[in-house]
Amino acid sequence: MESESRGEFVSKYISKQPDANGYVDYTDEENETWQILYSRQIKVIEQHACQDFFTGLDILGLNESAVPQLADVNKALGNATGWNVHPVSALISHVDFFKLLANRKFPAATFIRTREELDYVTEPDIFHELFGHCPLLANPVYADFMQAYGEYVLQAPEAEWPLLQRLYWFTVEFGLINEGGEIRAYGGGILSSPEETVYSVNNDEPERRPLDNGVNALRTPYRIDQLQMIYYVINNFEQLYNLVNSDLLEICKEAHKLGEFKPKFKIDGSPCEHIHFC
Ligand SMILES: [Fe+2]
Repeated sequence: MESESRGEFVSKYISKQPDANGYVDYTDEENETWQILYSRQIKVIEQHACQDFFTGLDILGLNESAVPQLADVNKALGNATGWNVHPVSALISHVDFFKLLANRKFPAATFIRTREELDYVTEPDIFHELFGHCPLLANPVYADFMQAYGEYVLQAPEAEWPLLQRLYWFTVEFGLINEGGEIRAYGGGILSSPEETVYSVNNDEPERRPLDNGVNALRTPYRIDQLQMIYYVINNFEQLYNLVNSDLLEICKEAHKLGEFKPKFKIDGSPCEHIHFC
């Protein structure tokens, strides 16, 4: 397989180009990989994913036995909230990423992981993007939050982007939600991983902190290549929407003043924090 690179990061995957009608020709093996991932994960998320995630899954009606075609997903998602999934190469720039969000387009690389990387793939593949992220994009409040996040970051000084990306990490990727006293997962990084789905909700080892106004999340370093040691818990999606419509730059300022939390993981040349934007 050829490689694609930007900066120091080298990808072994190449996104598949959709045809004029938006359809991608996946191989039998790739479709089977999707089927394995889907059938496994749909069982694991029971009792672990938040209710709105299941509602979103119903709205999307993702194909269970073959990689869903973006044209089909977009019909359902477009009807629900006006969002659509936008095919991109494996690696896109920060600015392109935020521009797409601001335009209610969710960037997704169209490749699917190899069988050797069934349990963990460093780069976000189509299973992560469609199964992990898209169900909540069918939720109107969450959908508005995601657009507002993209708009906010684009107009914020670039020097603050690393902190603002942490907010994305601890919400969109690895967020937990308190549903009537029960902790449930809503982050796409969690809900596309069988191990992290169970661990994030049930395991006693990681710390679960309230997100509150987000300042502590902005102070928290993370690693992309291991289970999270700290999760941030929201009460509802309105909290996220209100957060990105508040003065986040003031919160960044407070985070700088209070300083970084000491990492709970070992520092040994860990991969870049922001794999989605590398
Ligand atoms: Fe993601």
